[in-house]
Amino acid sequence: MGNLAERMGMPRRWRLMLVDGDRTAMDAAARMLTAGDDMTIVGTATHGHDALGVVADYRPDVVLLDQGLARPSALETAQRILKLVPGTWVFLTTQTPSVELWQEAKASGVRAVLPKPYTYADIADAITRAHDEDQRHGAYAVGRPEQTPSSPAFAGPVRTVRQEIICAFSPKGGVGKSTLVSNLGVLFALQRVGLRVAAVDFDLATVSLGVQLGLPKRPARTLADWVGVDAASLDRARVESLLVQHESGLWVLPAPSNPIDRMRIPPETFTNVIEAMRRLYDIVLYDLPTSSLDRDYALAAMKDATTVLLIIKPDTEDVSAMDDATNLLMSEEMRRLGFDPSKVKLVINRRPKHGAHSIADVMQVSRFPAIGQPIPEDPRVRRHTNVEEHGKAPIERLGSTPWAASVRSLARNIVPIAELSEGKVRRRPEKAKAPRRAGLFGRLRGDRP
Ligand SMILES: Nc1ncnc2c1ncn2[C@@H]1O[C@H](COP(=O)(O)OP(=O)(O)O)[C@@H](O)[C@H]1O
Ligand SMILES: [Mg+2]
Repeated sequence: MGNLAERMGMPRRWRLMLVDGDRTAMDAAARMLTAGDDMTIVGTATHGHDALGVVADYRPDVVLLDQGLARPSALETAQRILKLVPGTWVFLTTQTPSVELWQEAKASGVRAVLPKPYTYADIADAITRAHDEDQRHGAYAVGRPEQTPSSPAFAGPVRTVRQEIICAFSPKGGVGKSTLVSNLGVLFALQRVGLRVAAVDFDLATVSLGVQLGLPKRPARTLADWVGVDAASLDRARVESLLVQHESGLWVLPAPSNPIDRMRIPPETFTNVIEAMRRLYDIVLYDLPTSSLDRDYALAAMKDATTVLLIIKPDTEDVSAMDDATNLLMSEEMRRLGFDPSKVKLVINRRPKHGAHSIADVMQVSRFPAIGQPIPEDPRVRRHTNVEEHGKAPIERLGSTPWAASVRSLARNIVPIAELSEGKVRRRPEKAKAPRRAGLFGRLRGDRP
């Protein structure tokens, strides 16, 4: 059941890139690999140099590099790709496999050497093995223990990161969903590694993400600006021009404040947003509407997600609403639509000091595992939300409170980044709008704009 990626708990097809000097052979390989259900080709290149640009923008899971490449050679290209995006699996394809080649390739961070001609099954098999290895070493450990410290994947201070696409969903309103999305977004954006983080307001019923982040009531850019945009034009510069950047560095796509504009957004606009976010950001957060499962765009975001946060307050009404949402999330129909319920995690939010269901009671009812600690009710959260003219989120203001500690706990349970557990956020950049270095490379090395 399901394709290879789904069976491994991944949300989608594997995204491959092919790099081969022989265009005809590459096209034939692309046709063969896309004949099945498991893989899509996100890019091709005939030179190592061109490959780097494609890798930076399209974030393939796997790059198939042909050994015949010259200047830069396949192994040099492999090293550069791994510096740029350390999580990538690079496989070398060759006419002349040998033990020496395998050793050399391995030292460059290559995960598999595949003799040509290879078959669909060979690639699927290599993916399965790379995936299992990563699982064994922790899903997020990309620099692998067998590599020597001088190998490229160790070039930066951090070994990260599988892309995280996080959907926040709640069966009822007022549980603090938008508050969590905005504060998690700011927290992720402020970590020192400089991962690229975006937050998208898909809650068209109760628009609030932009306001929560202290953006103006009519933000400079909203989802309405994406209507009619040609998907093919969505490179990094174009996408950034269609987003608003919060002071923390978080990229934000607010929903339109005008309800008429909201009704006029066609399905392909949502699809374009989802695809652009997936291509360009390391961490994406979606604020989804309450009881959103009947809306196609919410469902599309959920299907794309790596983590779905089901957020409830521990009170009677929320717990009974959770029951309905659970039945839907686990239904056969949702499965048929390609949704994997194993990515749903329960978040207990706004836990009052007194008089609530005990957490143990909630957990008895929930069919989803909890993630992070329960987050306490704290009136200061509301007070510090969207009142600040300089746009600081509560997480920056309330850093030492139990509320902030529990939000950080949630954050690092989603993306295990060391800084998130230290309870510190780095100093905000001097100017958030300063041009950033392209690519993950500079940021992983700790260069700041
Ligand atoms: N942990 C918390 N403690 C106290 N108030 C909170 C907490 N989280 C959110 N709030 C407040 O609850 C209200 C609803 O939050 P919001 O994020 O808009 O909910 P939702 O998006 O689920 O409708 C807001 O006034 C917000 O400031
Ligand atoms: Mg909301």
